[in-house]
Amino acid sequence: MTIAEVADKIKSKLHQQFNINEIRQISLLLLQHFWQISEIEFYTDKQKKLDEKFDEDFSKSLNLLQQHTPVQYVLGTAEFYGLKISVDENVLIPRPETEELADWVIAENKNAKTLIDIGTGSGCIAIALAKNMKNTKIYALDISEKAIAKAAQNAANNDVRIDFFRKDILSENNFTPIQFDCIVSNPPYVLESEKSKMKQNVLDFEPHQALFVPDSDALKFYSAIAGFAILHLAAKGKIYVEINENLAEETQNLFKQKGFEHTELKKDLNSKNRMLKIQRTD
Ligand SMILES: C[S@@+](CC[C@H](N)C(=O)[O-])C[C@H]1O[C@@H](n2cnc3c(N)ncnc32)[C@H](O)[C@@H]1O
Repeated sequence: MTIAEVADKIKSKLHQQFNINEIRQISLLLLQHFWQISEIEFYTDKQKKLDEKFDEDFSKSLNLLQQHTPVQYVLGTAEFYGLKISVDENVLIPRPETEELADWVIAENKNAKTLIDIGTGSGCIAIALAKNMKNTKIYALDISEKAIAKAAQNAANNDVRIDFFRKDILSENNFTPIQFDCIVSNPPYVLESEKSKMKQNVLDFEPHQALFVPDSDALKFYSAIAGFAILHLAAKGKIYVEINENLAEETQNLFKQKGFEHTELKKDLNSKNRMLKIQRTD
């Protein structure tokens, strides 16, 4: 088999499920995973010969993709901030917009001594921060035991030290005496009513506990984060949260009502209000 033949096989199997750009992306990921083909080889060396030793696993992967399983779950891995993050159906697949949140935190908090990531999932944010904020002690929490296990495995694989708590942020906010210079979170924020706009591969495979909030209490995680911050945000500390683009002002107002006057919205690369910073001024 050659790269071109494998790419053709992928296309003929998946053309009903995916558009041409998605097929190209999936082909690259599969070729990288099974045959360690580089991106340059993928685009310029289509006649390169590949050995067939992974043929069976490769066919299994195509079947899973045909059933709409996200490619990151099929391969068990995702990329985040240049790092390899292991994922399974217990954790959300890290999103590119969340890399922008991590980037904002890294750029502005080189002197933070302590930081906590609330709702850590795969651990992607906490690990990216730990890699890039060498002087900061990083903590992370999640309600899901399986997510914590995955995040701990990812921290070890990426050679960083993170202290994990398994906690429900909605019901516990005083489980530690630590004061944090920085609180970061990408909490669940998709409304139940927004489900109908979502793709099948997200709805059927990604953990709903990581994604959805009821329309009747859409900002409950931000309210809990503000409550946690009232107790645990150090003087001059900062909070960075990913937000629902359709609830940007409401989220900003919630923090103001909780006494956090100084807030700043930030758009993502798609020009959507996706991030909010909240700063303690005293
Ligand atoms: C949107 S996901 C974010 C995961 C990861 N930080 C990321 O950016 O890819 C939200 C995370 O919050 C966790 N979570 C949901 N409810 C929670 C709760 N009550 N307390 C703590 N964590 C919770 C979920 O298990 C999930 O891992």
